[in-house]
Amino acid sequence: MAPVDTLHLRVTSTRTRDGQLAVAAAALRAGKLVAFPTETVYGLGANIYDEDAVRAIFTAKGRPPDNPMIVHVADVDQAVNLAQRVPRHFPILADTFWPGPLTLVVPRNASVFDAVTAGLDTVAVRMPGHKIARALIAEAGVPLAAPSANRSGRPSPTCAEDVLAELGGRIFAVLDGGPCAVGIESTVLDLSRRAPSILRPGVVTREQLESVLGTRVGVARSNTLHPASPGMKYAHYAPATPLLLVLPSARAAGTRKQLAATIRGLREQGRTVGLLAAAKYGDLGADEFFSLDTGTDVEYARLMYRGLRALDTRGFDAIVCPGLPEEGLALAVMNRLRKAAHTVIKAHPGT
Ligand code: TXA
Ligand code: MG
Repeated sequence: MAPVDTLHLRVTSTRTRDGQLAVAAAALRAGKLVAFPTETVYGLGANIYDEDAVRAIFTAKGRPPDNPMIVHVADVDQAVNLAQRVPRHFPILADTFWPGPLTLVVPRNASVFDAVTAGLDTVAVRMPGHKIARALIAEAGVPLAAPSANRSGRPSPTCAEDVLAELGGRIFAVLDGGPCAVGIESTVLDLSRRAPSILRPGVVTREQLESVLGTRVGVARSNTLHPASPGMKYAHYAPATPLLLVLPSARAAGTRKQLAATIRGLREQGRTVGLLAAAKYGDLGADEFFSLDTGTDVEYARLMYRGLRALDTRGFDAIVCPGLPEEGLALAVMNRLRKAAHTVIKAHPGT
């Protein structure tokens, strides 16, 4: 594809009078690709009713054609218009969690191109919580197909600069709405089968979904032969630098010891190390440290991709990152870190 000069459009307000928003919306209507902010990560948008534009997303990202995309809507009606039928649990979930980081997979109707859903008979829909995203979709007047705005397999971008680093020269524009508040992708929930099932863990947790629905919610196992969600079978979220994920010990002192030993071991072999961890681990002697602040699950989610990307540009031999106990939001954080990891280092028993 011929390189283009990607526009960096800074949005100042969500009013349609905002010139930048209007430029982005007009470009989308005309079939161009525009990256835009959501509360989770930046998405790479295309008009879902323009088949060539949808296909161009796969080319720009280098995305496998059998991986379907999430359709972003400005209101519930736009989502219902894509569905062949409205699943029983849809209304209460949309009512409770939209706008927000929950994607719902529903049976699709004939108005949705095969290119969007990779030929599946379902479509994934989400109404983003970010005001600029909703204003853009409303102004464009059409739902937007939008995967995360990264090259396929790489960490998702959580600010406009990271989008440009990934896709600059390959897309028409990025609409800059500042850094993403959440930082990791939405929860994907399949409502197309008899029982609701989580295809990708995210900010909205299984416990929250179960309490709203009053029924058990399953979690699809990643199965590379028969994936429930095509996205499950691909390598994901990975920096070019090998990531060493150090699983947490039962006690914080054990985690500190294990981290220190891992970094010391690498340095003794003459390797350079970037450390991505809570501020309290800043003294462990890595070549460079990227702080995840207090190191709570929320801070991990918000800063993790930024940190992975920043350390990845430094050309170190390894990036080391401690994991979190896998529950609540940390389940989603660890789902991404495990997929991004080159090696997972287990905690020593008894620490
Ligand atoms: O937070 C997010 O979800 C972000 C922002 C931009 O909204 N988007 C995002 O899109 O993460 P993407 O394309 O990187 O991930 C979409 C996931 C993939 O794992 C894909 O396989 C799954 O959703 N998916 C999409 N449509 C599906 C369908 N009809 N059935 C099952 N899984 C589907
Ligand atoms: Mg993605």
